[in-house]
Formats: sequence, C-alpha cells, structure tokens
Amino acid sequence: MKFFIDTADIGEIRDLGKSGLLDGVTTNPSLIAKTGRPLFDALAEICAALPGPVSAEVTATEAEGMVAEGRALAAIAANIAVKVPLTWDGLEACRRLRADGTMVNVTLCFSSAQALLAAKAGASFVSPFIGRLDDIGQDGLGLIRDIRAIYRQYPDSIATQVLVASVRGPLQVVESAKLGADIATVPPKVLRQLVQHPLTDKGLAAFLDDWARTGQTILKQAAAE
Ligand code: G3P
Repeated sequence: MKFFIDTADIGEIRDLGKSGLLDGVTTNPSLIAKTGRPLFDALAEICAALPGPVSAEVTATEAEGMVAEGRALAAIAANIAVKVPLTWDGLEACRRLRADGTMVNVTLCFSSAQALLAAKAGASFVSPFIGRLDDIGQDGLGLIRDIRAIYRQYPDSIATQVLVASVRGPLQVVESAKLGADIATVPPKVLRQLVQHPLTDKGLAAFLDDWARTGQTILKQAAAE
C-alpha cells in the first residue's frame, strides 16, 4: 500500500517525510486555507519537499474553468496531480487534463457508481471519502470493497488507483489494505498512531534497561575492533 499524507502543513510533511515512508501528498481547499498561505507558494514548497504525487484541487465548477485552473496548477511542478470533484464537469475536465498527460485525482467520491465513472474518465486516482460516509452511519469500507470488486473485473482497461481518503483512524488504513486499496491518504495524527503500540514501548524500555546494566556501548566496541 502507498501512504500519502493528507495535509498542506509543510512542517508536518517534512517531519514525517524524513522517514522515507511517504509516497505523496493530498491537499484540498480546506487544508490550504488552514495554512493561511498563498496556494501557489504552498504547493511549490510541498512539491519540492516530496517526489511523489501532490494533489492540488481546482475551485472552478464548470469544465472549462477546471481545465484552465488544472493546467495552471500542473505548471507548478511535474508531480502535481490535479484534483477535480466527482461531477459531470469534473469528469469532463478529468478526461481533458489526462489527455494533456496530467495526473488527475477525482475527489469527493461517495458511491461505486461515481467510482466507475471516475475510472471511465481515465482518472489516475479516485478518492472515496470513507470517514464522511461513516460519519453519517454509512459503510465507508464497504465502498472500498465494492470499488475494488468492480475495478478488478477490468484489469486491462482500468488503471485508476483507489486512494482511500477522509481517514479517521489506523484501523481504516489496515482494513483498506486488507481490501487491496492502492493508497491511503492519512492525516499526520493518524500516521503517527499507526506506528504506536504500548507493548513496543514497554519491550524497548526493558531491553534498554537490561543493556544499560552491561555498561557496554555498541560504538565503543566497534571502535575497539
Ligand atoms: O483528502 C480528503 C480529506 O482531507 C477529507 O478528510 O476529514 O475532511 O473528511 P475529512
């Protein structure tokens, strides 16, 4: 599974990106607004910070405007993936931007029918918002299951990657991986939760306590060799 970080906060992107475990970034107008920074400045810095796809969302609602904005966003850096909403205009813009050779992330996906159309439009990524479905008592992971069941029927014609979005916690990442989702885009807080386990902390503390009692250090012994 690929891991994207779901934030426009360059500090978080740099901090977690140092691990080498991040494959991309997703932003949206709300995440950009939270930074208080000009869109193009923020995106240029993010694109330089990580080599993977960086999703940048258009704000036009008509296809013509989406294409114009998408082309302007794509010109920022080679790793920009233009985000368009899952509407008829968004699907038309997706096809036209893909014809330019631009990566396109079709976002705000909440149904299998929508995901089928995103694949038909040649989307590079489709972003099912599973947390927002769960928030209203619907089955977010069930949507991932259904999309994967549809997409794997057409391995020769569907190249759209399922990019699980609106992730609320580690279990959604794990269950999405079990379902074969290609990517999870994860808020920094949840990324940090993924690595945490109290027994790891307890076990490491015990190892280090026992080691400290030996009075040895690895590098001193290496130097003495
Ligand atoms: O990438 C989409 C994501 O940012 C939406 O998450 O928590 O606003 O549903 P959320």
